[in-house]
Amino acid sequence: MDFETALGSLFSPEGRLDPYPAYDVLRAHAPIFQAIDGRWFVTTHALTNRLLRDSTLRVADAGDYDGFWPDWRENRGVASIVQSMLQNNAPDHTRVRRAAAATFTARRVAALRDVIAEQSAELIKAMPERTDFVSAFAYPLPIAVICALLGVPDADRPWFRQRAADLTVVLEPISTEEEMGRADVAGRELEDYFIGLVAERRREPREDLTSALAGDSGLTGAELLANLVLLLVAGFETTTNLLGTGLRILLDRPELADRLRAAPELAPAFVEEILRYDSPVQLTSRYTSVPLDLGDGRRLAGGASLNLLLGSANRDPERYPDPHRFDPDRPNIQPVSFGGGAHYCLGAPLARLEAQVAFPLLLSMLPRLALDGPPVLRDRLVLRGYASLPVSTG
Ligand code: HEM
Repeated sequence: MDFETALGSLFSPEGRLDPYPAYDVLRAHAPIFQAIDGRWFVTTHALTNRLLRDSTLRVADAGDYDGFWPDWRENRGVASIVQSMLQNNAPDHTRVRRAAAATFTARRVAALRDVIAEQSAELIKAMPERTDFVSAFAYPLPIAVICALLGVPDADRPWFRQRAADLTVVLEPISTEEEMGRADVAGRELEDYFIGLVAERRREPREDLTSALAGDSGLTGAELLANLVLLLVAGFETTTNLLGTGLRILLDRPELADRLRAAPELAPAFVEEILRYDSPVQLTSRYTSVPLDLGDGRRLAGGASLNLLLGSANRDPERYPDPHRFDPDRPNIQPVSFGGGAHYCLGAPLARLEAQVAFPLLLSMLPRLALDGPPVLRDRLVLRGYASLPVSTG
Protein backbone atom coordinates (compact mmCIF):
# COMPACT_ATOMS: atom_id res chain seq x y z
CA MET A 1 0.00 0.00 0.00
CA ASP A 2 1.43 3.44 -0.85
CA PHE A 3 1.26 6.48 1.41
CA GLU A 4 -1.72 8.22 -0.31
CA THR A 5 -3.76 5.01 -0.33
CA ALA A 6 -2.97 4.44 3.36
CA LEU A 7 -4.08 7.92 4.40
CA GLY A 8 -7.20 7.77 2.22
CA SER A 9 -8.13 4.38 3.64
CA LEU A 10 -8.54 5.83 7.17
CA PHE A 11 -11.41 7.88 5.76
CA SER A 12 -13.09 4.99 3.93
CA PRO A 13 -15.39 2.35 5.47
CA GLU A 14 -13.19 -0.58 4.28
CA GLY A 15 -9.99 1.01 5.62
CA ARG A 16 -11.56 1.73 8.98
CA LEU A 17 -12.40 -1.95 9.46
CA ASP A 18 -8.68 -2.63 9.94
CA PRO A 19 -6.64 0.59 10.08
CA TYR A 20 -3.45 -1.14 11.31
CA PRO A 21 -1.83 -1.90 7.90
CA ALA A 22 -2.40 1.75 6.94
CA TYR A 23 -0.88 2.96 10.21
CA ASP A 24 2.24 0.89 9.46
CA VAL A 25 2.65 2.60 6.09
CA LEU A 26 2.07 6.08 7.55
CA ARG A 27 4.45 5.49 10.49
CA ALA A 28 7.17 4.18 8.16
CA HIS A 29 6.67 7.33 6.05
CA ALA A 30 7.24 9.75 8.97
CA PRO A 31 6.57 10.31 12.70
CA ILE A 32 4.61 13.40 11.61
CA PHE A 33 3.42 14.47 8.15
CA GLN A 34 1.07 17.03 6.62
CA ALA A 35 -1.97 15.97 4.61
CA ILE A 36 -3.08 17.85 1.53
CA ASP A 37 -5.75 19.75 3.52
CA GLY A 38 -3.04 21.15 5.83
CA ARG A 39 -3.72 18.97 8.89
CA TRP A 40 -0.77 17.18 10.49
CA PHE A 41 -0.86 13.50 11.51
CA VAL A 42 1.34 12.03 14.25
CA THR A 43 2.09 8.31 13.99
CA THR A 44 4.77 7.23 16.48
CA HIS A 45 4.55 6.40 20.18
CA ALA A 46 7.40 8.71 21.21
CA LEU A 47 6.06 11.80 19.45
CA THR A 48 2.42 11.13 20.43
CA ASN A 49 3.44 10.76 24.06
CA ARG A 50 5.51 13.94 23.94
CA LEU A 51 2.81 16.03 22.27
CA LEU A 52 0.03 14.82 24.59
CA ARG A 53 2.07 16.28 27.45
CA ASP A 54 3.09 19.50 25.68
CA SER A 55 1.38 22.35 27.55
CA THR A 56 1.72 24.72 24.57
CA LEU A 57 -0.74 22.58 22.60
CA ARG A 58 -4.42 23.30 23.03
CA VAL A 59 -7.74 21.67 22.22
CA ALA A 60 -10.32 23.45 20.04
CA ASP A 61 -12.47 25.34 22.57
CA ALA A 62 -15.65 27.43 22.41
CA GLY A 63 -13.69 30.47 21.14
CA ASP A 64 -12.22 28.44 18.27
CA TYR A 65 -15.64 27.04 17.38
CA ASP A 66 -17.03 30.61 17.27
CA GLY A 67 -14.42 31.29 14.59
CA PHE A 68 -15.08 28.35 12.28
CA TRP A 69 -18.72 27.47 13.07
CA PRO A 70 -20.62 30.47 14.51
CA ASP A 71 -23.87 28.46 14.98
CA TRP A 72 -22.35 25.54 16.87
CA ARG A 73 -24.36 26.29 20.04
CA GLU A 74 -27.56 25.49 18.13
CA ASN A 75 -26.54 21.83 17.92
CA ARG A 76 -26.91 20.83 21.56
CA GLY A 77 -24.98 17.58 21.05
CA VAL A 78 -21.98 19.55 19.81
CA ALA A 79 -22.51 22.21 22.48
CA SER A 80 -22.45 19.71 25.33
CA ILE A 81 -19.09 18.32 24.23
CA VAL A 82 -17.55 21.71 23.33
CA GLN A 83 -18.56 23.19 26.70
CA SER A 84 -17.19 20.23 28.64
CA MET A 85 -13.66 19.92 30.05
CA LEU A 86 -12.65 17.81 27.04
CA GLN A 87 -12.74 20.99 24.93
CA ASN A 88 -11.61 23.48 27.58
CA ASN A 89 -8.14 25.01 27.83
CA ALA A 90 -6.41 26.46 30.90
CA PRO A 91 -7.41 28.26 33.05
CA ASP A 92 -11.03 27.00 32.62
CA HIS A 93 -9.85 23.44 32.09
CA THR A 94 -7.74 23.47 35.25
CA ARG A 95 -10.65 24.76 37.36
CA VAL A 96 -13.30 22.41 35.96
CA ARG A 97 -11.03 19.37 35.90
CA ARG A 98 -10.01 20.00 39.53
CA ALA A 99 -13.66 20.17 40.60
CA ALA A 100 -14.52 16.96 38.76
CA ALA A 101 -11.39 15.14 39.97
CA ALA A 102 -12.21 16.11 43.56
CA THR A 103 -15.51 14.25 43.27
CA PHE A 104 -14.25 11.39 41.08
CA THR A 105 -11.95 10.04 43.78
CA ALA A 106 -10.04 6.75 43.98
CA ARG A 107 -12.24 5.88 46.96
CA ARG A 108 -15.43 6.42 44.98
CA VAL A 109 -14.09 4.29 42.11
CA ALA A 110 -12.88 1.49 44.40
CA ALA A 111 -16.30 1.48 46.07
CA LEU A 112 -17.80 0.59 42.68
CA ARG A 113 -15.98 -2.77 42.54
CA ASP A 114 -18.89 -4.56 44.21
CA VAL A 115 -21.44 -2.82 41.97
CA ILE A 116 -19.41 -3.94 38.93
CA ALA A 117 -19.13 -7.54 40.14
CA GLU A 118 -22.84 -7.75 41.05
CA GLN A 119 -24.02 -6.18 37.80
CA SER A 120 -21.67 -8.39 35.77
CA ALA A 121 -22.90 -11.55 37.47
CA GLU A 122 -26.53 -10.52 37.00
CA LEU A 123 -26.02 -9.81 33.29
CA ILE A 124 -24.13 -13.08 32.77
CA LYS A 125 -26.88 -15.10 34.48
CA ALA A 126 -29.51 -13.43 32.28
CA MET A 127 -27.61 -14.17 29.03
CA PRO A 128 -29.50 -16.57 26.75
CA GLU A 129 -27.60 -19.46 25.11
CA ARG A 130 -27.16 -17.52 21.87
CA THR A 131 -26.93 -13.76 22.14
CA ASP A 132 -25.24 -10.56 21.06
CA PHE A 133 -22.55 -9.83 23.63
CA VAL A 134 -22.65 -6.09 22.94
CA SER A 135 -26.38 -5.74 23.76
CA ALA A 136 -26.38 -8.35 26.52
CA PHE A 137 -23.27 -7.22 28.40
CA ALA A 138 -20.88 -4.67 26.87
CA TYR A 139 -23.53 -1.91 26.75
CA PRO A 140 -25.50 -2.51 29.93
CA LEU A 141 -22.51 -2.95 32.27
CA PRO A 142 -20.87 0.49 31.73
CA ILE A 143 -24.30 2.15 31.65
CA ALA A 144 -25.17 0.58 35.00
CA VAL A 145 -21.84 1.63 36.49
CA ILE A 146 -21.84 5.21 35.25
CA CYS A 147 -25.50 5.58 36.29
CA ALA A 148 -24.63 4.28 39.77
CA LEU A 149 -21.79 6.80 39.93
CA LEU A 150 -23.89 9.74 38.74
CA GLY A 151 -26.92 8.66 40.77
CA VAL A 152 -29.19 8.13 37.75
CA PRO A 153 -32.15 5.94 38.80
CA ASP A 154 -32.07 2.34 37.45
CA ALA A 155 -35.30 2.77 35.52
CA ASP A 156 -33.75 5.50 33.33
CA ARG A 157 -30.75 3.43 32.17
CA PRO A 158 -32.16 1.98 28.93
CA TRP A 159 -33.19 5.51 27.92
CA PHE A 160 -29.54 6.62 27.99
CA ARG A 161 -28.16 4.02 25.66
CA GLN A 162 -29.53 5.40 22.38
CA ARG A 163 -28.98 9.01 23.38
CA ALA A 164 -25.35 8.43 24.32
CA ALA A 165 -24.73 6.52 21.06
CA ASP A 166 -26.36 9.31 19.01
CA LEU A 167 -24.32 11.96 20.76
CA THR A 168 -20.81 10.50 20.37
CA VAL A 169 -20.93 10.99 16.60
CA VAL A 170 -19.84 14.59 17.28
CA LEU A 171 -16.40 13.20 18.22
CA GLU A 172 -15.90 11.89 14.66
CA PRO A 173 -14.11 14.05 12.07
CA ILE A 174 -16.74 13.23 9.42
CA SER A 175 -20.48 12.77 9.98
CA THR A 176 -23.69 13.13 7.97
CA GLU A 177 -26.29 15.86 8.43
CA GLU A 178 -28.76 13.26 9.68
CA GLU A 179 -26.29 12.01 12.31
CA MET A 180 -25.66 15.59 13.46
CA GLY A 181 -29.43 16.09 13.71
CA ARG A 182 -29.74 13.04 15.96
CA ALA A 183 -26.80 14.30 18.09
CA ASP A 184 -28.66 17.61 18.53
CA VAL A 185 -31.84 15.87 19.72
CA ALA A 186 -29.84 13.60 22.04
CA GLY A 187 -27.99 16.62 23.47
CA ARG A 188 -31.28 18.44 24.16
CA GLU A 189 -32.87 15.43 25.82
CA LEU A 190 -29.82 14.71 27.97
CA GLU A 191 -29.56 18.35 29.05
CA ASP A 192 -33.24 18.38 30.01
CA TYR A 193 -32.77 15.14 31.92
CA PHE A 194 -29.79 16.46 33.88
CA ILE A 195 -31.52 19.80 34.60
CA GLY A 196 -34.18 17.74 36.39
CA LEU A 197 -31.69 15.52 38.19
CA VAL A 198 -29.55 18.47 39.33
CA ALA A 199 -32.64 20.23 40.74
CA GLU A 200 -33.61 17.08 42.64
CA ARG A 201 -30.12 16.58 44.05
CA ARG A 202 -29.87 20.22 45.11
CA ARG A 203 -33.08 19.77 47.06
CA GLU A 204 -32.00 16.46 48.53
CA PRO A 205 -28.28 15.70 48.07
CA ARG A 206 -27.16 12.06 48.02
CA GLU A 207 -23.80 10.28 48.03
CA ASP A 208 -23.50 10.51 44.22
CA LEU A 209 -21.37 12.47 41.78
CA THR A 210 -24.26 14.61 40.53
CA SER A 211 -24.92 15.84 44.08
CA ALA A 212 -21.20 16.54 44.59
CA LEU A 213 -20.83 18.46 41.30
CA ALA A 214 -24.14 20.30 41.71
CA GLY A 215 -23.08 21.43 45.20
CA ASP A 216 -20.35 23.93 45.81
CA SER A 217 -18.07 22.95 42.91
CA GLY A 218 -17.68 26.41 41.35
CA LEU A 219 -18.95 25.28 37.93
CA THR A 220 -21.31 27.50 35.92
CA GLY A 221 -24.71 26.03 35.02
CA ALA A 222 -23.59 25.35 31.43
CA GLU A 223 -20.35 23.72 32.60
CA LEU A 224 -22.21 21.52 35.06
CA LEU A 225 -24.62 20.21 32.42
CA ALA A 226 -21.95 19.76 29.74
CA ASN A 227 -19.70 17.81 32.09
CA LEU A 228 -22.50 15.58 33.36
CA VAL A 229 -23.32 14.74 29.72
CA LEU A 230 -19.60 14.22 29.01
CA LEU A 231 -19.19 11.84 31.96
CA LEU A 232 -22.15 9.85 30.76
CA VAL A 233 -21.09 9.51 27.13
CA ALA A 234 -17.31 9.35 27.69
CA GLY A 235 -17.76 6.73 30.37
CA PHE A 236 -19.99 4.51 28.40
CA GLU A 237 -19.35 3.86 24.73
CA THR A 238 -15.56 3.72 25.18
CA THR A 239 -15.89 1.10 27.91
CA THR A 240 -18.42 -0.84 25.83
CA ASN A 241 -15.81 -0.94 23.09
CA LEU A 242 -13.09 -2.11 25.47
CA LEU A 243 -15.32 -4.98 26.64
CA GLY A 244 -16.31 -5.94 23.08
CA THR A 245 -12.84 -5.87 21.53
CA GLY A 246 -11.35 -7.55 24.59
CA LEU A 247 -13.80 -10.43 24.50
CA ARG A 248 -13.25 -10.91 20.76
CA ILE A 249 -9.49 -11.13 21.34
CA LEU A 250 -9.96 -13.71 24.13
CA LEU A 251 -12.42 -15.83 22.16
CA ASP A 252 -10.07 -15.85 19.16
CA ARG A 253 -7.25 -17.17 21.37
CA PRO A 254 -8.66 -19.97 23.58
CA GLU A 255 -5.24 -20.70 25.11
CA LEU A 256 -5.06 -17.13 26.44
CA ALA A 257 -8.66 -17.25 27.65
CA ASP A 258 -7.83 -20.49 29.53
CA ARG A 259 -4.82 -18.81 31.09
CA LEU A 260 -6.84 -15.85 32.35
CA ARG A 261 -9.60 -18.17 33.56
CA ALA A 262 -7.05 -20.11 35.63
CA ALA A 263 -5.21 -16.99 36.87
CA PRO A 264 -7.64 -14.06 37.25
CA GLU A 265 -4.88 -12.02 38.90
CA LEU A 266 -3.45 -11.59 35.37
CA ALA A 267 -6.49 -9.44 34.45
CA PRO A 268 -4.67 -6.05 34.79
CA ALA A 269 -1.94 -7.15 32.33
CA PHE A 270 -4.53 -8.56 29.91
CA VAL A 271 -6.57 -5.36 30.06
CA GLU A 272 -3.52 -3.14 29.38
CA GLU A 273 -2.61 -5.29 26.38
CA ILE A 274 -6.21 -5.19 25.07
CA LEU A 275 -6.12 -1.39 25.37
CA ARG A 276 -2.82 -1.30 23.47
CA TYR A 277 -3.71 -3.87 20.84
CA ASP A 278 -7.03 -2.33 19.78
CA SER A 279 -7.53 1.07 21.36
CA PRO A 280 -11.18 2.09 21.92
CA VAL A 281 -10.16 5.68 21.07
CA GLN A 282 -8.04 5.82 17.92
CA LEU A 283 -7.44 9.52 17.43
CA THR A 284 -7.38 12.80 19.31
CA SER A 285 -6.70 16.34 18.10
CA ARG A 286 -4.69 19.35 19.22
CA TYR A 287 -3.72 22.78 17.90
CA THR A 288 -0.40 24.59 18.25
CA SER A 289 -0.73 27.89 20.12
CA VAL A 290 2.89 28.94 19.46
CA PRO A 291 5.41 27.62 16.92
CA LEU A 292 6.23 24.00 17.75
CA ASP A 293 9.79 22.69 17.43
CA LEU A 294 9.67 19.12 16.17
CA GLY A 295 13.25 18.42 17.20
CA ASP A 296 14.31 17.47 13.64
CA GLY A 297 14.96 21.00 12.39
CA ARG A 298 11.32 21.58 11.46
CA ARG A 299 8.92 23.99 13.14
CA LEU A 300 5.13 24.03 12.89
CA ALA A 301 3.51 27.47 12.82
CA GLY A 302 1.07 28.55 15.57
CA GLY A 303 -2.52 27.45 14.78
CA ALA A 304 -1.49 24.18 13.09
CA SER A 305 -4.00 21.32 13.45
CA LEU A 306 -2.63 17.99 14.68
CA ASN A 307 -4.27 14.56 14.70
CA LEU A 308 -2.58 12.16 17.10
CA LEU A 309 -3.15 8.59 15.90
CA LEU A 310 -3.33 6.80 19.27
CA GLY A 311 -4.02 3.45 17.61
CA SER A 312 -0.87 3.81 15.51
CA ALA A 313 1.27 4.88 18.49
CA ASN A 314 0.17 1.74 20.33
CA ARG A 315 1.43 -0.46 17.47
CA ASP A 316 4.76 1.33 17.03
CA PRO A 317 7.50 -1.35 16.69
CA GLU A 318 10.07 1.06 18.19
CA ARG A 319 8.13 0.93 21.45
CA TYR A 320 6.51 -2.51 21.21
CA PRO A 321 8.55 -5.26 19.49
CA ASP A 322 6.35 -7.46 17.28
CA PRO A 323 3.50 -4.96 17.80
CA HIS A 324 0.78 -6.89 15.95
CA ARG A 325 1.07 -9.82 18.35
CA PHE A 326 -1.26 -9.85 21.36
CA ASP A 327 1.02 -10.53 24.31
CA PRO A 328 -0.09 -9.78 27.89
CA ASP A 329 3.43 -10.65 29.10
CA ARG A 330 4.94 -7.54 27.54
CA PRO A 331 6.79 -5.51 30.16
CA ASN A 332 5.75 -1.93 30.86
CA ILE A 333 2.81 -1.76 28.43
CA GLN A 334 1.48 1.78 29.14
CA PRO A 335 -0.59 2.40 26.00
CA VAL A 336 -1.67 5.93 25.04
CA SER A 337 -5.30 4.77 24.79
CA PHE A 338 -6.37 7.08 27.65
CA GLY A 339 -4.41 10.03 26.24
CA GLY A 340 -1.89 11.79 28.48
CA GLY A 341 -1.06 15.13 30.06
CA ALA A 342 -3.72 17.62 31.19
CA HIS A 343 -6.63 15.83 29.47
CA TYR A 344 -5.62 12.31 30.56
CA CYS A 345 -8.82 10.29 30.85
CA LEU A 346 -10.50 11.04 34.16
CA GLY A 347 -12.29 7.69 34.06
CA ALA A 348 -9.26 5.49 33.29
CA PRO A 349 -9.21 3.79 36.74
CA LEU A 350 -12.93 3.06 36.45
CA ALA A 351 -12.73 1.70 32.89
CA ARG A 352 -9.80 -0.51 33.87
CA LEU A 353 -11.62 -1.79 36.94
CA GLU A 354 -14.75 -2.68 34.93
CA ALA A 355 -12.73 -4.71 32.44
CA GLN A 356 -10.53 -6.31 35.11
CA VAL A 357 -13.59 -7.52 37.01
CA ALA A 358 -15.70 -8.44 33.96
CA PHE A 359 -13.35 -10.64 31.91
CA PRO A 360 -12.39 -13.17 34.62
CA LEU A 361 -16.04 -13.37 35.69
CA LEU A 362 -17.25 -13.97 32.13
CA LEU A 363 -14.65 -16.69 31.62
CA SER A 364 -15.33 -18.46 34.91
CA MET A 365 -19.14 -18.27 34.83
CA LEU A 366 -19.33 -19.17 31.11
CA PRO A 367 -16.60 -21.76 30.50
CA ARG A 368 -17.99 -22.60 27.04
CA LEU A 369 -18.38 -19.00 25.83
CA ALA A 370 -17.57 -18.89 22.09
CA LEU A 371 -18.08 -16.77 18.98
CA ASP A 372 -21.30 -17.65 17.21
CA GLY A 373 -21.16 -15.77 13.93
CA PRO A 374 -19.33 -12.89 12.29
CA PRO A 375 -18.81 -9.86 14.55
CA VAL A 376 -19.76 -6.47 13.07
CA LEU A 377 -17.58 -3.43 13.72
CA ARG A 378 -19.09 0.03 14.02
CA ASP A 379 -17.96 2.16 11.11
CA ARG A 380 -16.22 4.84 13.15
CA LEU A 381 -12.69 6.19 12.97
CA VAL A 382 -12.34 7.71 16.45
CA LEU A 383 -14.38 5.37 18.69
CA ARG A 384 -13.47 1.87 17.57
CA GLY A 385 -15.54 -1.13 18.66
CA TYR A 386 -18.18 -3.69 17.79
CA ALA A 387 -21.80 -2.97 16.94
CA SER A 388 -22.53 -6.64 17.52
CA LEU A 389 -20.61 -9.70 18.66
CA PRO A 390 -22.69 -12.92 18.42
CA VAL A 391 -21.74 -15.45 21.09
CA SER A 392 -23.00 -18.78 22.39
CA THR A 393 -22.77 -19.66 26.05
CA GLY A 394 -23.75 -23.34 26.06
C1 HEM B 1 -11.83 2.17 27.89
C2 HEM B 1 -12.48 3.23 28.24
C3 HEM B 1 -12.04 4.63 27.99
C4 HEM B 1 -11.14 5.12 27.08
C5 HEM B 1 -10.33 4.34 26.05
C6 HEM B 1 -11.08 6.55 27.27
C7 HEM B 1 -10.25 7.40 26.55
C8 HEM B 1 -10.11 8.74 26.79
C9 HEM B 1 -9.16 9.60 26.12
C10 HEM B 1 -8.21 9.17 25.01
C11 HEM B 1 -9.29 10.84 26.64
C12 HEM B 1 -8.44 12.07 26.31
C13 HEM B 1 -8.87 12.77 25.09
C14 HEM B 1 -7.89 13.85 24.72
O1 HEM B 1 -6.81 13.98 25.29
O2 HEM B 1 -8.19 14.61 23.78
C15 HEM B 1 -10.34 10.77 27.64
C16 HEM B 1 -10.77 11.85 28.37
C17 HEM B 1 -11.79 11.76 29.27
N1 HEM B 1 -12.44 10.63 29.71
FE1 HEM B 1 -12.12 8.75 29.07
N2 HEM B 1 -11.93 6.90 28.28
C18 HEM B 1 -12.53 5.76 28.76
C19 HEM B 1 -13.43 5.66 29.79
C20 HEM B 1 -13.87 6.72 30.53
C21 HEM B 1 -14.76 6.62 31.66
C22 HEM B 1 -15.30 5.33 32.25
C23 HEM B 1 -15.03 7.91 32.06
C24 HEM B 1 -15.88 8.43 33.17
C25 HEM B 1 -16.67 7.78 33.90
C26 HEM B 1 -14.26 8.79 31.21
C27 HEM B 1 -14.23 10.16 31.33
C28 HEM B 1 -13.37 10.99 30.65
C29 HEM B 1 -13.34 12.42 30.84
C30 HEM B 1 -14.20 13.23 31.80
C31 HEM B 1 -12.34 12.92 29.97
C32 HEM B 1 -11.92 14.38 29.79
C33 HEM B 1 -10.73 14.70 30.64
C34 HEM B 1 -10.21 16.09 30.39
O3 HEM B 1 -10.45 16.67 29.33
O4 HEM B 1 -9.53 16.62 31.29
N3 HEM B 1 -13.58 8.03 30.30
N4 HEM B 1 -10.80 9.48 27.72
